[in-house]
Amino acid sequence: MSNPINPNLTEQLQKLQQKYEVMGQDLSSYLDGLLYADYLTYWDYIHLDTLLSLQTPKTHFPDEKVFIMYHQITELYFHLILWEIEQVSENIQPTEKYLCDRMDRINNYFKQLVGSYDVMVTGMEREQFLKFRMSLLPASGFQSGQYRMIELCSTDLINLVNVNDRASMQHVSIDEQLEKLYWRSGATELATGKKTLTLQQFEQKYNSRFKQLAVKFADKNLKKIYTKFFPTSDDVKKRLREFDELANVRWPLSHYKSAAKYLHKSPEDIKATGGTNWQKYLPPRFQKIIFFPELWSEQEKEEWGKAGLMS
Ligand code: HEM
Repeated sequence: MSNPINPNLTEQLQKLQQKYEVMGQDLSSYLDGLLYADYLTYWDYIHLDTLLSLQTPKTHFPDEKVFIMYHQITELYFHLILWEIEQVSENIQPTEKYLCDRMDRINNYFKQLVGSYDVMVTGMEREQFLKFRMSLLPASGFQSGQYRMIELCSTDLINLVNVNDRASMQHVSIDEQLEKLYWRSGATELATGKKTLTLQQFEQKYNSRFKQLAVKFADKNLKKIYTKFFPTSDDVKKRLREFDELANVRWPLSHYKSAAKYLHKSPEDIKATGGTNWQKYLPPRFQKIIFFPELWSEQEKEEWGKAGLMS
């Protein structure tokens, strides 16, 4: 004989019945479905088989898998960061604690990326890298749309304009500022200064989305949120400075270290990036991208990107 029905269960059934009635649904049919449904498993829930089927090298070099997977891991972290920024920007009345907690999450994600970057520096044989990299042209991490989205959601567009045009373009239209975004002068050919195919394809795919994002976040990027709600909070400022340093100095320096390790020697190596101007482009001291310039002293800005300057 089966056990009598637990009174809690009766109450739960009543609540369920109400829930389904509101939508004009018959609870009994859904209970039938429950009777036949399988239990959820870990591997289905996180789509493990799909996840592990997404590493498809273009060559037979084993280290290419490391290269693919670390890019994928980075993109997932970028996704987490964007997820937090989006929630902050949608919150119409954030408390100071809420903003600090969310910034702590974002900073934590970036710290994981900076801390794990050695996967790229020591995790591949240079000889393998230089060979498989040639099979991937003209693709480049430069084409990471999410990296640009993090920038666009974090600060005012003017702070992403070429450093030499920033002062003179404060009051021009969004379209004009978009034309002069700093990265649009990266990925150009060393020899001719022309846009590489890498850059052309990237612009073709993402320019209209970037414009939409720039418009959408003009009044609710992280810089705007902090100046609107907590312009004098030291706790918020501390976290934003940390974010600026992680996103615009420490990650770019870790990344630059890998480019220098793999690419720096012969003209042959330069080919592995499609012959770009990366030495003059990647080090953060050249672009001086700073999301929250008002939180840094003139000297700190002057020396932006010099290793060892910051915490
Ligand atoms: C051995 C590893 C790597 C090397 C040698 C390398 C090399 C480069 C180079 C040379 C550039 C300049 C643009 C170009 O010339 O194509 C670049 C840009 C970029 N790469 Fe990498 N990269 C590596 C790993 C990664 C990883 C793991 C990511 C993660 C998504 C990444 C994301 C980026 C981004 C976002 C840019 C644009 C940076 C900016 O505009 O400031 N790279 N990379």
